[in-house]
Amino acid sequence: MADLPIGIFDSGVGGLSILRAIRQRLPAQPVLYLGDQAHVPYGLRTLKEVRHFSEQITRFLLSQGARLIVVACNTASAAALHELRAQFPEVPFVGMEPAVKPAAEQTLTGVVGVIATPATFQGQLYASVVERFANGVTILQDTCPGLVTAIENGQLDAPETRAILERALMPMLDQHIDTVVLGCTHFPFVIPLIQQIVGPQVRVIDPAPAIARQVERLLEGHGWLPTGDQPGVVRSFTTAEIQPFETLLQRLMRENFQADALCWQDG
Ligand code: SIN
Repeated sequence: MADLPIGIFDSGVGGLSILRAIRQRLPAQPVLYLGDQAHVPYGLRTLKEVRHFSEQITRFLLSQGARLIVVACNTASAAALHELRAQFPEVPFVGMEPAVKPAAEQTLTGVVGVIATPATFQGQLYASVVERFANGVTILQDTCPGLVTAIENGQLDAPETRAILERALMPMLDQHIDTVVLGCTHFPFVIPLIQQIVGPQVRVIDPAPAIARQVERLLEGHGWLPTGDQPGVVRSFTTAEIQPFETLLQRLMRENFQADALCWQDG
């Protein structure tokens, strides 16, 4: 069973940061990408709602032939990963968790900043990661209100986006953070802005390369590594309007992907 697609989903375009890393590592791997833009941002929704969307999307991706699913959204991972694994035991899942472990291991000042959505901070997954790995390190948190929506609108270096980030990061700098953990897959798209604000001496942890390595390990373990030498086909879907999604897709991925629209019947 060679060269079947993997499925990747997110509330919107954030998971493209994960798709980008997977494409760099496994260029021949075919991918189905779904951005649930009809329901973005997930971070302000209830865990029950996010679980429901995640289950519907997983069913869709499996119906299209996906054999491994990447939950490329910290909020959906916090809300639904456990349930998805129980509900689809035959499917390998890769999920996101804020990279508190490497941050706590490497910080020299002993102070680390984490930016993520309110739902991610409220989930059990985050609490357990901090409990297991913070190891006496001070963790400062901020939800960066409005940042996911700004990125969905393509405002990657707009003054409003900078203002959101400054409001979150300046107080953390005052408390001597030397590491910022990106706990939302949308945020890697504003790393240049983050780095301008915190300066080159502060390390910004983007989880995408580690997730791509994990996907590769899982595919290898199943004997599913892609065998072709041509770039794998990427089929992308949005649950909202196609045109803005396609424009942003091409801008963020710097590749000429096309998109299809999907209409969910909620409930
Ligand atoms: C959101 O939709 O609020 C962001 C998703 C994430 O947590 O990665």
